[in-house]
Amino acid sequence: MFSEIRMRRLRHSENLRRLVRETYLSVDHLLYPVFVVPGKGVREEIPSMPGIYRLSVDQVIREVQEVAEFKIPGILLFGQPQMKDAKGSEAYSDQGVVQQAVRAIKSQLLHVLVATDVCLCAYTTHGHCGLVDKNQVLNDPTLEVLTKIALSHAYAGADLISPSDMMDGRVSAIRSTLDEHGFSESPIMAYSAKFASSFYGPFRDAQGSLPQFGDRRSYQLDPANGREALREIDLDISEGADIVMIKPALPYLDVIARAKDMTDLPIAAYQVSGEYAMLKAAAQKQWLDEEKTMMESLQSIRRAGANIIITYFAKEAAKILSR
Ligand code: PBG
Repeated sequence: MFSEIRMRRLRHSENLRRLVRETYLSVDHLLYPVFVVPGKGVREEIPSMPGIYRLSVDQVIREVQEVAEFKIPGILLFGQPQMKDAKGSEAYSDQGVVQQAVRAIKSQLLHVLVATDVCLCAYTTHGHCGLVDKNQVLNDPTLEVLTKIALSHAYAGADLISPSDMMDGRVSAIRSTLDEHGFSESPIMAYSAKFASSFYGPFRDAQGSLPQFGDRRSYQLDPANGREALREIDLDISEGADIVMIKPALPYLDVIARAKDMTDLPIAAYQVSGEYAMLKAAAQKQWLDEEKTMMESLQSIRRAGANIIITYFAKEAAKILSR
């Protein structure tokens, strides 16, 4: 005879299941990534990311209106330059597409929070996230460029500054630059535990940001290391991060859960391009139910402990959550 505890008693009806449910996914938790490119009238679907587009500034406005209608709290903006160069100088240009897009969104008074990705990889000819000398990605000289990018985003009106480069000391460099220029109220969402992941593949197609030599393992985290990820998170907190991020999400749920135990700061998780592409591709083949697997994966990221989920599914999930 087995014990008298019967776990199934609480699973019998949907109402019982509702009463004992531990985790909720709401549209309030979602942030939607948006890719902005130079030009006018550009709306180009990314082949490995069905339903996700490269958009020129005029089209971004349409997209953000839709995001507002879905009541998604915000977007995370990624840009591309007209011309790449070795120093990624268009990344901090007043006329860059991100800066233009932020100003355009803000001038329309759309009630959508605008977070901006601060990095060099889409802007440099070599495709690395920092300045390069003799095939080495330089840490300290990169910090100055990152602070310029962050500041240019803040001047354009960005609500949340989000460095994704993984250079050491960038959170504190950006924090003090923002403070010195009157942006002490601008929060930083740091990509704190960003792993050197192969799940970024479709994003790099979208952004043309594949490294031209080597890979990102000299600055992004080794996928084998959970304890080191916690040190990165701890460091970013001590440097002044307001929100810490773990990326990718699904292969690193353990890191999200451990971070949740370690800190009381809000935790963001980035369900990256490869995670999206996997589910989309399987659904297109009718090997998986797209709606159910999408919601299950988002739910599990919440269960692990993320407050904020950055996901290409944001609009589709919002649609489902509103019915
Ligand atoms: C830029 C950056 C990357 C992603 C977000 N910011 C790519 C990378 O580090 O190569 C990945 C996002 C995704 O895959 O959806 N450093």
